[in-house]
Amino acid sequence: MNYLFIKTCHQDFYHSFDFTPVRVLGKGMMGDVMLARSRDGSNLTAVKSFKKNSLDAGLENQKLFFNEVDILLNIKHKNIIGNIMAYDCPREYVMTMPYYPSGTLTRHLPYMTAYVIDKYLLQLTSALNYLHSRQLVHRDIKPDNVLISHDGDAILSDFGVACLVTTTSVSIIGRMGTPGYKAPELSDMRIQFFDFYSCDMYSLGALLFNMVTRRLVSPNTNYLGSVRHPLTDYGAYGVILEYLLCQYPQMRWNTTNLYNHLVSMPHMANLIHEQFGC
Ligand SMILES: Nc1ncnc2c1ncn2[C@@H]1O[C@H](COP(=O)(O)OP(=O)(O)OP(=O)(O)O)[C@@H](O)[C@H]1O
Ligand SMILES: [Mg+2]
Repeated sequence: MNYLFIKTCHQDFYHSFDFTPVRVLGKGMMGDVMLARSRDGSNLTAVKSFKKNSLDAGLENQKLFFNEVDILLNIKHKNIIGNIMAYDCPREYVMTMPYYPSGTLTRHLPYMTAYVIDKYLLQLTSALNYLHSRQLVHRDIKPDNVLISHDGDAILSDFGVACLVTTTSVSIIGRMGTPGYKAPELSDMRIQFFDFYSCDMYSLGALLFNMVTRRLVSPNTNYLGSVRHPLTDYGAYGVILEYLLCQYPQMRWNTTNLYNHLVSMPHMANLIHEQFGC
């Protein structure tokens, strides 16, 4: 990690840069994400703080901060949060990022049209393909971690538990994820070795399920058993859901399989041209 990219501040972020906190955008385990405004009002930014407080929590926050910043400073994709800045302040580490007034995908779920579902799915597939091809996994894909831009694009964010895949061993990489989005094999304590890329694909499937049903599901949803309809009932998305939410990781689609399937869907042609110019 190149620590030169993390600026040291001798006062807290707000005093150092003459910003005023406006309101809380989100509360996380490590601290808040605040909307902040510059004194002259010309600049709005989202400020994610990682408190340096009590020993254990402080160390964990430090780990999350360096992890997130290290990854985000080294990648660039139009559907991944960018333009971040990182600061080491006396009481906290701070990461600033562009403010997205439209909020997260969670807020947009009830109003999603088929066009928007297709667009977000395509954009998130492209973002994941970019990450996976660089041996990176996100590990917490869910609607709360996808921001919506002014132009109505999906922006993958919250890279706190993302990591470089150096091994298949869970003892090194860990069993991260959010209930309802976490691949089922990660909760099977007998399994020690994983295809972590495939775990991201499961989470993408759960997110697609949220988009198709226009709502969040309960954390213990068994997509293959306890949902009201078989996955095949979800029209054009049925096959995709089946292959992403598949119980067996070796049968789950990877980003290439998914992209090839999307390209083969006749109604996707315009969208693919619009997004990728091909
Ligand atoms: N750039 C932004 N613009 C607008 N809102 C944001 C932005 N970044 C984060 N938020 C809001 O803050 C919430 C928490 O942010 P983020 O997911 O990065 O932090 P987190 O603490 O790691 O999250 P969690 O622990 O809840 O997964 C988001 O779900 C979103 O509602
Ligand atoms: Mg989050």
